[in-house]
Amino acid sequence: MNHPFLVTSVCGALAFFGCKESHPAETPSAKEAHILDMKRATDHHSFAKPAEAVTTHLSWDAEVDFDTRQIHATATYNLKVADDAERVLLDCRGLDIHSVQVDGQDVEFELGAEQPFIGQPLSIPVHPTSNKVAVAYSTSDNADAFLWVEGEHPFLFTQSQAILARTWIPCQDSPGIRFTYDAKVRVPKKLMALMSAVNPTVKTDNGVYTFRMDQPIPSYLLALAVGDVEFREVGPHTGVYATPDLIDAAEFEFSEMEDMLVAAETLYGKYAWERYDLLVLPAAFPFGGMENPRLTFATPTIIAGDRSLVSLVAHELAHSWSGNLVTNATWDDFWLNEGFTVYFEQRIMEAVYGRDISEMLGTLSYQGLVDEVDAIMDVNPNDTHLRLHLKGRNPDDGMTAIAYDKGYFFLRLLEETVGRPAFDQFLKTYFTSHAFQIMDTDSFLIYLDDNLLTTESLKASVDVPAWVDGQGLPDNCPQVQSARLDLVDATLDEWVQGGKAASDLPWDQWLYQEKYRFLSNLPDDISSDRLAELDDAWSVNATGNNEVLFAWLEQAVRSRHTPAYERLEMFLIHVGRRKFLTPLYKAMVDTDQETMAEAIYKQARPNYHSVATGTMDELLGHPSH
Ligand code: BES
Ligand code: ZN
Repeated sequence: MNHPFLVTSVCGALAFFGCKESHPAETPSAKEAHILDMKRATDHHSFAKPAEAVTTHLSWDAEVDFDTRQIHATATYNLKVADDAERVLLDCRGLDIHSVQVDGQDVEFELGAEQPFIGQPLSIPVHPTSNKVAVAYSTSDNADAFLWVEGEHPFLFTQSQAILARTWIPCQDSPGIRFTYDAKVRVPKKLMALMSAVNPTVKTDNGVYTFRMDQPIPSYLLALAVGDVEFREVGPHTGVYATPDLIDAAEFEFSEMEDMLVAAETLYGKYAWERYDLLVLPAAFPFGGMENPRLTFATPTIIAGDRSLVSLVAHELAHSWSGNLVTNATWDDFWLNEGFTVYFEQRIMEAVYGRDISEMLGTLSYQGLVDEVDAIMDVNPNDTHLRLHLKGRNPDDGMTAIAYDKGYFFLRLLEETVGRPAFDQFLKTYFTSHAFQIMDTDSFLIYLDDNLLTTESLKASVDVPAWVDGQGLPDNCPQVQSARLDLVDATLDEWVQGGKAASDLPWDQWLYQEKYRFLSNLPDDISSDRLAELDDAWSVNATGNNEVLFAWLEQAVRSRHTPAYERLEMFLIHVGRRKFLTPLYKAMVDTDQETMAEAIYKQARPNYHSVATGTMDELLGHPSH
């Protein structure tokens, strides 16, 4: 049985309070709406009160000023207001609010007290009949969502997830609240503006761009990028944007995107966003990828020249279902976004590249998970639960490999328990029946019991509570098998024991996953001389594959292999992807090389995004910014 009232859209909640545009067929009875309200997960990271008023559409009119590193804008929202409501609350952080109008009239607004990382509530007086609220504002010059790249090739990009949208647009910044949007954005001539919306493919003469996003999205998927980019089609519904120096490489690297899109639709139902394009960002982008709807933002570090790192594209594409279509209600439910996405990513990879490849990725994911569980168990064991408890904490604290990889293995266990056909049917129905709605952990568990784990013996063999609210990795975690990686492990042992020389090993025949496995499993105390042997045989230090380079550099730091330090420094100054930075700086700290870490960080920090400096400041003991 379905529980439509446990999981529904915000409009359903408001119907109870007399929201003007309620749809009769969807209107739950007063009692059911009450149940819903009790069940509705509270988002501790937003001041929004969706039971009082919700924003349903945003019209954003903005001017991007590279000189002052600010955006001056007006955000006009359509509202639905409950019968007894007197205000609407928007989240903002570091915004300079100039004026607020409700239905064309200036009103007195209030900015509440600032809370760390949450920001301030902007309280705007409204009536049950109010339709529109318009906020004129400027961003601060160091808004946390932004990264401004200066110089000959200026670039601006935003990163809104998890709670940074409020640093560039006043909004109900909670993943449970969705709205459509349109925008008009003025940027310097010669630059193109792109958003998580219907995008241009050529530059305009006057630097003015207009956008529409007709499907309702949560605020964390608001995105803007401005730069000197070009567009290339790679398929009927897919294309890439990149700067002129990277556009050819990007076109080649991502030319299989359409195949992935077709594979994804075949698995779990129609793609809801019409086009799937990818924007290659400057190397300072703090993530591998971000699933902004219609336009994935991606780090250039996945351009390897041989399409070997495209599982990241499969991942961001998969979010078009898990996350963008069915959205985690709060950041405590983050695993519903990321765990499902890793599972879906693996299925796309299996469909397009074969099971050998996807099982290698699964094996690497398992190794990453075991390491992460070990690390977190020492610090905060409850952070190894799938369901998080982030109240009073920065949601960023919960964005670990647990949501991703423990989430993945939980879904894989479900698949193995009921069989693939039944699980695929379940997932497909889950996505279609909850499209454009939110999902919290409790509601998902009810849905799971009602639709998949329907017998006591199925429930017992999965043991959902151990996975969702238990520590560590349960005993029934599925086993991954990769004969190719087993062989790599054996080869590594042999080389470590001195049985074979590096030049006798099949490095050139190995895929990236095999090279990565070899380098990331070198014994910690391996000598610099032995690393030199590897570099002589394989020129690892000159590799164009950033994952391989990263594994190499981390080991080089741990073994004080100084010939690699120049490359290390270049890499850290050029690349801002947090997944690489954290282990590299940490390796320096762990091995009494803080002085080098500090010296490099001093040079590199101005290039990093706030997401990366937040983590590195903490790691290196800097006063928090
Ligand atoms: N949505 C995430 C990125 C994210 C998570 C941003 C939490 C802010 C807060 C994105 O889909 C992601 O998971 N990216 C991964 C790549 C993926 C292949 C695991 C990354 O950036 O490393
Ligand atoms: Zn993701």
